Amino acid sequence: MRLDKFICQSTEFSKTDVTDQLIAGYVCVNGEIKTDGSTQVHENNTITLNGKVLTPRAFRYVMLHKPPGTICSNVDEHYPSVFNYVDIDYPDDLHIVGRLDADTTGLVLITDDGRWSYGITHPDNFCPKVYRVGLSREIAGEVADKFKAGIALQGETGLTLPASLSVLSPQDVLLSITQGKFHQVKRMFAAVGNRVVTLHRESIGQVQLDIAEGQWRYLTETEVQSLQIITPPYS
Ligand code: URA
Repeated sequence: MRLDKFICQSTEFSKTDVTDQLIAGYVCVNGEIKTDGSTQVHENNTITLNGKVLTPRAFRYVMLHKPPGTICSNVDEHYPSVFNYVDIDYPDDLHIVGRLDADTTGLVLITDDGRWSYGITHPDNFCPKVYRVGLSREIAGEVADKFKAGIALQGETGLTLPASLSVLSPQDVLLSITQGKFHQVKRMFAAVGNRVVTLHRESIGQVQLDIAEGQWRYLTETEVQSLQIITPPYS
């Protein structure tokens, strides 16, 4: 992690205040004065500010039930940001683990632990994300096999990773995927001549959405651990 980020996560200082403290020569890493905020630091370094050893705040892990018409961005743009629904300190430290489109609803994970989110989103880890999908046409019989084999998305070389489809009713299905390509679910159904009308994420790994739309809660320790998937370059 960058030194300036570490200090932000260990104090009440803003990024600008931290830069001032660095330039003033008040910050030491393992006893050596450091003035450059981009210096990389590690868990086993001793970092002091004015002689006081800094300890970073504990990471936060949150689930949000995303309403429709909201965006997975830190700022309001055409639609309000999902962060408006999460009343939590230091919101600027947080990021979203796998964004959803503005019209998609359901499970969004939010954290300030970059290593944790990297493990969840990295396709090599095959972490399943399950979507409930409403379709404009009845699902064709061969689609489950096509998705299992992998399909070519428009504008891409190679095939999607194997995905699993369960049919709830002719126009209502569950799709489990382990990648997070741009508009992936909508593009997969477009590739087989169908169209997604409603899209809702129900689960990520073993973490199941269990709160009402617009609500948020901290994940339990068990939920956090269940998604603790370490992968290169962090391993
Ligand atoms: N796939 C999509 O097409 N949209 C989403 O929001 C999530 C997955």
